[in-house]
Amino acid sequence: MKDKKIIVGVTGGIAAYKAAELVRILARAGAHIQVAMTASATKFVAPLTFETVSGNRVVWDMFDRGTAPLDHIQLGQESDLIIVAPATANFIAKMAHGIADDFLSTMVLAATARILVCPSMNSQMFVNPVVQENLKRIAGMGSVIMEPGEGELACQTEGPGRLPEPEDIAEQARMLLSQQDLSGLKVLVTSGATIESIDPVRYITNRSTGKMGYALARAARLRGASVTLVSGPTALEPPYGVQVREIKTAEEMKQAVFDNHTDSDIIIKAAAVSDYRPRNSAQQKIKKGEESLTLDLVRNPDILEELGKAKTDSGYTLVGFAAETEELLKNATEKLRKKNLDIIVANDVSREDAGFESDTNLVKIIYRDGSIEELPLMTKDDVANHLLDRIKELREGGS
Ligand code: PMT
Repeated sequence: MKDKKIIVGVTGGIAAYKAAELVRILARAGAHIQVAMTASATKFVAPLTFETVSGNRVVWDMFDRGTAPLDHIQLGQESDLIIVAPATANFIAKMAHGIADDFLSTMVLAATARILVCPSMNSQMFVNPVVQENLKRIAGMGSVIMEPGEGELACQTEGPGRLPEPEDIAEQARMLLSQQDLSGLKVLVTSGATIESIDPVRYITNRSTGKMGYALARAARLRGASVTLVSGPTALEPPYGVQVREIKTAEEMKQAVFDNHTDSDIIIKAAAVSDYRPRNSAQQKIKKGEESLTLDLVRNPDILEELGKAKTDSGYTLVGFAAETEELLKNATEKLRKKNLDIIVANDVSREDAGFESDTNLVKIIYRDGSIEELPLMTKDDVANHLLDRIKELREGGS
């Protein structure tokens, strides 16, 4: 988003107040935001609110000569993206039929930038065939329409018509501004820890939060891939546009992975899977008794190894992670060979700022031919994008 020029067009619906949060998110991400409002939008939220959150003046009166006029033609041609949020039925109708009777509608009509339209209105209005026809029409002319959310609306009714959450609109915008170089590819990511029950109140797990796997899923989605994320229990919000399959145990993860593996072009196993599980999970809470207690553990399936065995030459690109506290390269390389991987990401988990829980990571990318790329300490988002670049190059025969 950094330095991208985005126009946020706000039209006259109650959800106009949510657009202020959208502008704040986009501005924080480094975008240059210009807000244009319709006259009725200014009845819901004062332009000063948007001026404060965007740091730029807001335009709503086409003929205001008080300050240097903003050019309604140039603005939509020089920007990278226009987001209309909320988009009322009236504004959608104007877009569909080329009506230009104020600054925002005129600017949109003359725009060459991509347009993201976020409808928000009463649900009966939204399902009205006239509105649906108009939406189809503007989608056919190249605008991207974001499905409204469902639920309780400001007019005390239930149904479709809620403005999507500002975070989700911002993610959709990020997607439209990102290079779609993974478009057409299906990516399967596993993430987080598995948990194995000891009794109804206790379990075996590990320190994985899911941050690395979620960063990978999100980055692949933003770059146009269709992404399935098999996730252990986590406190993280599901990434926008990603299909999430929640699991708890290693067996459940295996099932979810093998439901999707033949359909995938790329499989990345960032999850920290329990190698062992209790032979029997007690039906009742185990009572305190002797000074020591021995748990009888049995091996879980090695999902990655089984994926490696099932892989064919024309099949998926298989990428594993190796979480190591010693002999990083030696141990990771052994796992790459044993599990028949294309790439293994050797993850030094002995540092506070890498591996489990942290927002940053320190990894080395190891290839089948033995070559190694050492990356500096990076955010998990950057590690994810770097790894996806390398996977893409490998698939294209470049590495
Ligand atoms: O979730 P975060 O807090 O962000 O932490 C990220 C991370 C440290 C968990 C991640 O970066 C990472 O290193 N993931 C791999 C953790 C791990 O279990 O490593 P391993 O060396 O034990 O396993 C090697 C590979 O085999 C992994 O891809 C693992 O998913 C897979 N495996 C392991 C055991 C098993 N039974 N089945 C598997 O598929």
